[in-house]
Parts: sequence; C-alpha cells; structure tokens
Amino acid sequence: MRMIDILERKRDGAELTRDEIDWVIEGYTKGTLPDYQMSALLMAILLRGMTRAEISQLTQAMVRSGRELRLRDMLGSYAVDKHSSGGVGDKTSLVVLPMVAACGVPVAKMSGRALGYTGGTLDKLESIAGFNVTLATEQFARQAREVGLVIAGQSEELAPADGLIYALRDVTATVPSIPLIASSIMSKKIAAGADGTVLDVKVGEGAFMTEADQGRELAQQMVRIGEDAGRDVTAVISNMNQPLGGAVGNAIEVREALDTLRGGGPEDLREHCLIIAGHMLGLAGQGERWHDPGEAREALAESLGSGAALRRFRDMVIAQDGDVRMVDEPERLPTARLVETLTAPRPGVVKVVPARGVIHAAFALGIGRESKVDELDHATGLWVHVKVGQRVAAGDPLVTIHANSEESLMRCREELDGLLPLSREDVAPLPLVLDEIHGRRQRRGPRSS
Ligand code: URA
Repeated sequence: MRMIDILERKRDGAELTRDEIDWVIEGYTKGTLPDYQMSALLMAILLRGMTRAEISQLTQAMVRSGRELRLRDMLGSYAVDKHSSGGVGDKTSLVVLPMVAACGVPVAKMSGRALGYTGGTLDKLESIAGFNVTLATEQFARQAREVGLVIAGQSEELAPADGLIYALRDVTATVPSIPLIASSIMSKKIAAGADGTVLDVKVGEGAFMTEADQGRELAQQMVRIGEDAGRDVTAVISNMNQPLGGAVGNAIEVREALDTLRGGGPEDLREHCLIIAGHMLGLAGQGERWHDPGEAREALAESLGSGAALRRFRDMVIAQDGDVRMVDEPERLPTARLVETLTAPRPGVVKVVPARGVIHAAFALGIGRESKVDELDHATGLWVHVKVGQRVAAGDPLVTIHANSEESLMRCREELDGLLPLSREDVAPLPLVLDEIHGRRQRRGPRSS
C-alpha cells in the first residue's frame, strides 16, 4: 500500500477501506508513517468528512493500537461509565459516580487532567491531600470490586494512536473535525472497557462545541460508533452557556460536590447529576431493576438524602490514600489567602453569566493549565452566586474570588468587570438539557452482580 494513493483518494472524496485505515493507524503508531503525510490525511478528513463505516473503522483501529480493558470481567457485572466533553464548573463525576455506586452498580472510571477549558477530575481529586490517582490495573480492579468505586488516571496504554494523532491535530489546525473528535473520544471509551457509557456532550460558549447542531452531530456520531462496537451509549446534550453549579476551580469544586453529596448543593448541579446518573442506571439495569426512570431517580435521590453516596466517596478516598478528614470537614481542603466578593451595584435580573468569561477570570487565578506541564493551584477559584434569570437586590453577592496573590486577584477582578450585566426586564432561565440521543441497545446475557 502507498500513502500517496490513500491521500489522493481521500482528497478526491472517496471512502477509505478498512485495510487502508488499519494500515495508516498501524504505520503512524509504529513511526513508519511520517508526520507530514499523516497531517495531510487529517486535513483531507477535516475538509471531506468521513462515512459512518470509516469513522467506526478508524475508532477500532485506534482501539487496537493499545491495550483493551475488560471491565465486565474485572467487576463481575455490567460496567457503566460516563464521559463529559468538558465544561466550566463541571464537577459532575465527583457526585454522579458515588451516587451510581451507592445504588449497587460498581463504577471503575479512568479520568483526565485539566487542559484549557476542560476540567480535570483528577486535578480536583488531588485537592484532597494524599489522594492517589496512579493505580496499577490489579489495584484498580480490586478496589472496583471491594469498594464499588474507583477513579484513576487514564492508562497511557489505552488507544496510544489517539494520543499521537491528537498531538498532531493540535498543531495542524485539525482538531475541529467531528469525525476526528468522535473517534478520538470513543476509542478511549471503548478501550477502557465499559459495556455502557453515558456521554455528557456540552454545548455553548463554555464548551468545545458552541452550537447545538454541532453538539447533536457529535453525539449522534459517537452513539453510532458505540452501536458498531457493540456498546450501549446514551448521549445527553447539555447547556454550557453558564457554569454548572457555582464553584469554578479545584478544591472549591470538591467542596461543592461534597455539599451536593450531603443532600444540599446548587439546584442545577443536583438536577444534572440526577439526569446523568439516571441514564447510567438505565443502561446498567436495562429491562431489569432500573428500567423505570422514576424508580431510578428515587433511588438516586435517596442515595444523596441518606448519605449512602457520600459514604461511597469517603470509602474511595480512604482506599486511594486520601486524607478523609478533608471529606468530613471540608474547611480542611486547601483555601486561598485572599477572598473578595463582588456585589450587585443595583437591583436587577441577571442577564448572562458568560461561561467563557468566567473561565478566563478563573484562569487568571491559576486554576488550570495551558500546556500539559503547567502547575495549577488547587486552592484558588471563583464562586459564582447567581444564575441567568435570577433577581438580585443591590448589595447581593454576585461572585466571590479566591486568590493567592494580589496580582492575580487584580487580574481576575479586571476580567470580571462588567461580565455579569443586570437587566430591568425579566430574563428566561437557561434550560439544563437540550436533547438526548439513545443508541440501539445491545443484547447481552443476564446482568449479574
Ligand atoms: N477530546 C478528545 O479526547 N479528543 C478530541 O478530539 C477532542 C476532545
């Protein structure tokens, strides 16, 4: 096979064969295919698109480039996972996974670190002193069986071709291609081995996808990849035009997640978690225990009210060497030196809480990283007290800044200046969920536990 022929075919809009796709992915992973040719192919894909068959074959080729976990064998039961495409203040995993585990469905999840806008569950968990996210596969499996909940760093052995290709896409302006994004995300999900996955596809100014139609298209393609690979997939397309919950940072997001696990927390976060966790139970118990969404919701709400979900989170922290006193007394979590609250200058209704502006302001405090090697500050962040459509009186808190230096506090204040305008008229609150897409269910044997 010759790469020049493959490039010509894709350039002219032809459908690549499975053998051609396998040959390209194998060659690029082994280093026999040079970056310049792979870059040309990625650009041709971005411009020409891919058929459903090509997208599935590309995904499978990336899965085969590394190791594939068999979570069902590890857990001895149906394995369910979730993935968020990344949003501002998105601490959903910290709440949802213990809720699902508390309902008797074990969860073994591999997560990522923060990069750019995408929040990193691992960084948030590392706000808890000692919390270990680097687990050997054996330990990961044992904890999933014994505790019912484990969250660890993604193994580099999963879909290594995706890591190499993503790095190249990043420097060749080929990231924003829906087939490439869909296959990249799903190759890691399939290699991570869950039978069923709930995808939380964020749409809006604080998300990777800014338009609802793009989000729907991405969700549809990922659901189809799941179907072709014999996995159950449900996609929830959710609104990311304002932060989810109030906290944006690391330790302060853990604090908000703990409030929610204690049965409190902001209404939008609690509701979003009930929706995502409900779909996870729906996949795990399809046709059996959790077939009735109302019943699943009741059980999940009970897991928050009874403290069962919090106990699972606590057990996970102990098993992964974290300082559990920080869970029991969240005021022990890292705190910033300087705290300042900005208030409403006059009465009015909150017009927008621009997610992108909020994350820029929070970045000024050091909550994230621009590149993989940057250090982040676990203690800093923002607490946004208002939602779009909320009525406020003069002097009501709008946002609290948690900073560790005068300079970053000043920069953050500048970023926030004029960011939360007030209207004299009523403003409609934003919907939480825009759409849902359900994949065709795969038939498997009975779900044991
Ligand atoms: N996240 C991924 O894992 N891959 C992409 O291509 C984009 C976002």
